[in-house]
Amino acid sequence: MPTFQTVRGMRDLLPEDAAALNCVIAKARETAGLYGYREIVTPVVEPYELLAAKSGEEIRQRMFTFKDLGDRTVALRPEFTASIARLATTALRNEPKPLRVFSVGSVYRYDEPQRGRYREFWQSDFEIIGSNKPEADAEIILLTNSLMQAVGLRNYAFKLGHIGVLRGILSQEDVDDKTQNAVLQRMDKKEYTEAFALVPEKCRATLEGLLKLKSGSVFETAERIIQYVADYSEAAASAENLLAILKLVTEGGCEIATVEPAFARGLEYYTGMIFEVYIPELDIALGGGGRYDRLIEVFGGEATPATGVAHGLDRIALAMQTQNLALKTKQDKRVVVVPVKDEQKGAALKIAQQLRATGMSVEFEVMGRKMAKALEDADKRQMDYAVIVGEKELQQNTVVLRNLAKRTQTTVVINKLAEAIRS
Ligand code: HAM
Repeated sequence: MPTFQTVRGMRDLLPEDAAALNCVIAKARETAGLYGYREIVTPVVEPYELLAAKSGEEIRQRMFTFKDLGDRTVALRPEFTASIARLATTALRNEPKPLRVFSVGSVYRYDEPQRGRYREFWQSDFEIIGSNKPEADAEIILLTNSLMQAVGLRNYAFKLGHIGVLRGILSQEDVDDKTQNAVLQRMDKKEYTEAFALVPEKCRATLEGLLKLKSGSVFETAERIIQYVADYSEAAASAENLLAILKLVTEGGCEIATVEPAFARGLEYYTGMIFEVYIPELDIALGGGGRYDRLIEVFGGEATPATGVAHGLDRIALAMQTQNLALKTKQDKRVVVVPVKDEQKGAALKIAQQLRATGMSVEFEVMGRKMAKALEDADKRQMDYAVIVGEKELQQNTVVLRNLAKRTQTTVVINKLAEAIRS
C-alpha cells in the first residue's frame, strides 16, 4: 500500500496548530458572548440551490458540489450566511428582532492553495438580522475590532465601502442585474478596465471618477462620494449611509483606515456597507462582511434587513504567528501516574481519577513499562511530576511524588496529593 497524503488544499492541524486555532475560536466565542450573539450549529452539507442562490459566480464555481446517494445535488458550505438566512425564513422566523446569531466551523472552497488560502478553512460568523440602521452595521465592525484586539493583533486596518453606491449608479444608468454582478465581480478583483468595459460610456466615466475620490482623510473621502453621486438618488442615499456608519464606528472607538469608493466584494448578496480587515504583513483579508437586505426574501421569507461578518480564523492564527504573538493558554501542571507493579494498577488508576476530578491533567502509564523507563519517558516529554504508586506506601495511604525537573521526591498522603502538586 502507498502511504496516504491529504487531498490537495486540505490540511492536518497537528497539536500546536490545533491549539492556535482553538485559541482563536475561544476568543471568537468570548466576543459573541460580549455582544449578545447566540451560537447556532448548521450542517456542513446544504442544498446546492441554497448556497448558490446569491453567492455569485466566483463562489459558485468553487463549491464542492456532488450528488448524494438520494440523487440530491448538495454542496459543502462555502460560508455560513446562506444557512443562517435559511434559518431566518424557517425555525428562527418568529424570533424577536434583532436576531443576533453566531456560528463557528469549517467551510470549503476550491481556491488555489497558498499561504493563508486553503480549501478547508475555519470561520466565525456573526449575523444581526432585522435592523436596517447604521448602528447594526457599526456593531458588526466594532465586534470585529474587539476580536482583533482580543487576539492581540497590532496595526490591523479596516477598509470600508458601500455596494449601494455602486449599484445605485449602475441601476440609474439602466445596467441590468446580471451585468451589474459581472461588473462588481471584476471590480472585486481590481480588474477595473475589464469591469468598466461592460457598461455604457457615460456610466463608465462615472465609475472611473470614483477611483479618483480617495483622499487622505476617511471623512473627506465619504463627503466627496456624497457630492460626486448627488445626481444618483439611490447612490446618494447610500453614500449618506456610509458616512453615518463611519461616524458611529469612529465614535465607538474603532478607527477606519480607508474608505474605498470603488471597493466591491466577491459575494453577490451585498446591498449596503461592505468592509474587510487586514494586517500590513499579509495581503489577504482576515475578515470581511457587509449588509445584505434582500437575501432573506430571496429565500422566501419576509423582506428582512441584515448585516454580518465572517472572520478567517486560520488567517487570524497565521497573522498572530506573523506578529510573534504567543498563545496565552493557561497550562496546568502535567502529571504522570505510574504503578510500581501490576498489583498497584487499580489503586494507581483510582488516584489518577481523583487528581483529574480536581481538574488536573493526568496521564496514566499504559505501556506497561518498568519504573525507570516510564520516568525517562516522562522526562523526555517534559512532564512536571510523576506519582509513583508502590505497595509499601499504599499501606500508609501515601505515594511518592517526584518532581521531574528538580529530580527530587517526597512521600505525600494521597488526599493531600493534588495540593502538594499545585503548591
Ligand atoms: P468572505 O470574505 O468570503 O465573506 O470570507 C470571510 C473571510 O474568510 C475572509 O476575509 C478570509 O479571512 C477567510 N477566507 C476566505 N477564503 C479563504 C480561504 N480560501 N482560506 C482561508 N481563509 C479564507 C464571507 O464568507 C461572508 N459570508 C461574510 C458575511 C457574513 N457577510 C455577511 N455576513
